[in-house]
Amino acid sequence: MHIADNDKQHAQSLLDFIDASPSPWHAVAQIAETLRAHGFKGLREYEPWQFKAGGKYFVVRDDGAIVAFILGQQALSESGFRLVGAHTDSPGLRLKPKAAYASNGLAQLGVEVYGGPILATFTDRDLSLAGRVTVSTSEGMKTHLVKLEQAIARLPNLAIHMNREVNEKGLVLNKQTGLPLIYGHAADSAIAQQLLLQQLAAVLEIAPEAIFSWDLALYDTQKGSFWGLDQEFIADSQLDNLASCHAALSALITTVKPSSTLICALLDHEEVGSESSSGAGGSFLLDVIDRICLSTGIENEGKLQAFANSFFISADMAHAFHPNHAGSYEPCHHVQVNHGPVIKTNANQRYSTNAVTAARFMQLCKQANVPYQQYAHRTDLGCGSTIGPIMAAQLGIATVDVGNPMWAMHSIRESAGVLDHRYMTAVLQAHFAS
Ligand code: CO
Repeated sequence: MHIADNDKQHAQSLLDFIDASPSPWHAVAQIAETLRAHGFKGLREYEPWQFKAGGKYFVVRDDGAIVAFILGQQALSESGFRLVGAHTDSPGLRLKPKAAYASNGLAQLGVEVYGGPILATFTDRDLSLAGRVTVSTSEGMKTHLVKLEQAIARLPNLAIHMNREVNEKGLVLNKQTGLPLIYGHAADSAIAQQLLLQQLAAVLEIAPEAIFSWDLALYDTQKGSFWGLDQEFIADSQLDNLASCHAALSALITTVKPSSTLICALLDHEEVGSESSSGAGGSFLLDVIDRICLSTGIENEGKLQAFANSFFISADMAHAFHPNHAGSYEPCHHVQVNHGPVIKTNANQRYSTNAVTAARFMQLCKQANVPYQQYAHRTDLGCGSTIGPIMAAQLGIATVDVGNPMWAMHSIRESAGVLDHRYMTAVLQAHFAS
């Protein structure tokens, strides 16, 4: 399979983005930085908003969600919005508030399971901590991003000599007792706690006593990589769904003077059901849309008219066919890595796609000269969901659920295709230009 240099570069820029984004809060900071570098102006929710015609803006809520938009050249009520939605969070392990304790001379970290990770994949990895920490300063409370660079924590497997059936029955880890990580030696829990606070304080260049609280995730320090004979595959953590965030962002920053108003909504908490102030079930996107309408003098009638003229692409990763597990897939809906974006359909509205929105996406693929595939889950297996149905219900906008094919969804080391990333970016560009 021939991989062109620019396709490889685009995939490399995705891997660089993921490696700089070990938590959703880091991902949003990275996205904001890229937007700023491309002339987007940052808005704050607590300030009044004023727009210039054709202006480019973004707004962050709770550090984990970001909505970026470009005002269109045509009247909003007539041309509507072209929206792309994706999520910034990935399943994994999150530190408990009082995480550190000592056990048999070792310092350990207690963790909660965030969303639905494949827990076995977190064993024997070079893990570290990243997230945000709220501290006391002379000017009041401040929240800082923090990332420990070195691998500091590990979840070693139990030797096969004490777990003889692991290859027959799979690795089963009790979520309370099987997941605490080892991160050093400590005679008692007070020392274990101090070790953790000192590590964080050193990176933040503050005193350990200044730390109030945190949202911290375990991340894999191994960087993203290419693999396959022609280096046509990529592997990294968080491809679900930072790959879609990166494709949406790449498409947005390369679009010039769109006729419709473009919106990228990259939201948090999808992996735990989206019910939060910064998730798809919350008010964030609608609040931004309301303020766009208010600030551009669009009345309610005009807004509802705009919604009816809009199209929403919900981009989240899809399940590529795995040849060793053919029985797990719907036989007529195998989707292949590097064969193009996948349109996801579910009659029970776990995906928002319908005949009309699927056809509209197919049309965009044709315009962008991009192949597409169609996916349905096995009828006898429970189907996952996305932000698509939530957004469709909340906004009443025609919506399609799509995503690039990938293997090992929710593993700490997922994999996908180099070509698909360029394909998805190209079709989202076509959407923004439509
Ligand atoms: Co996802």
